[in-house]
Amino acid sequence: MKNTVVTFQEAKQKGEKLSMLTAYDYSTAKLIDEAGVNAILVGDSLGMVVLGYEDTLSVTMEDMIHHSAAVARGIKDTLLITDMPFMSYQTSVYDAVVNAGRLVKEGRAQAVKLEGGKEVCPQIRAIVNASIPVCAHLGLTPQSVNAFGGFKVQGKGEAAAQKLLDEARAVEEAGAFALVLECVPKALAEKITETVHIPTIGIGAGAGCDGQVLVYQDMLAMYANMKPKFVKQFAQVGEEMRNAFAAYRKEVADGTFPGEEHTFKMDESILDRLY
Ligand code: KIV
Ligand code: NA
Repeated sequence: MKNTVVTFQEAKQKGEKLSMLTAYDYSTAKLIDEAGVNAILVGDSLGMVVLGYEDTLSVTMEDMIHHSAAVARGIKDTLLITDMPFMSYQTSVYDAVVNAGRLVKEGRAQAVKLEGGKEVCPQIRAIVNASIPVCAHLGLTPQSVNAFGGFKVQGKGEAAAQKLLDEARAVEEAGAFALVLECVPKALAEKITETVHIPTIGIGAGAGCDGQVLVYQDMLAMYANMKPKFVKQFAQVGEEMRNAFAAYRKEVADGTFPGEEHTFKMDESILDRLY
């Protein structure tokens, strides 16, 4: 069944949990789609887990379009949401609409995601008015890493919790179809989930959210740079890959690979006539 922003709304009403994973390329997207995951996020985490930057700030529109279009070619039923990179929407409402449009037209995104609360509500409203669904993102919003002074849990104190609840109401009111909550205490994420009518998708926000999202390299244990508390490793793919690469290296070195079964044959009498 094709997932859309409408089926997302219905899932919340029916109390059905939504699953989301990141992807950045065709072959991974195809596997995630075949597994029946509801949505793929082409996250700007791309900058860290694929491009090797220390944060997401250097990611460009061109990067996002390139990877979004690759993912789009791999999916059938999954809803494709693509992140708006740093400075593609903060600068003005006009920039936000133009860049959201590029992610749809060139990146084949079916929805876009941007970070922030009240300060980006004019952008959310304008993008939604252009018929592009918007997913909001609150809590630990990595594009604000320099303002936060690091990657830390958000919304712990009373004032911070009230602010987050107000921001959640504001992005819903601005027209967001879903809301990602990143690194928010479980109890506050539950309160926000009960308060808003749009599905909340948690990452490090507990089981009370309407859905969950993880970076696929994290949940496959492929990205060793850090292991946040909220990550569950569903398979040790990183280790499997390293072992396979080492086995290949060894077999090339000792001549075990390629074997006869991997080689092409010809009439070798031809060779005798070559000069
Ligand atoms: O970029 C990303 O992968 C994200 C998720 C972690 C929500 O924004
Ligand atoms: Na992101």
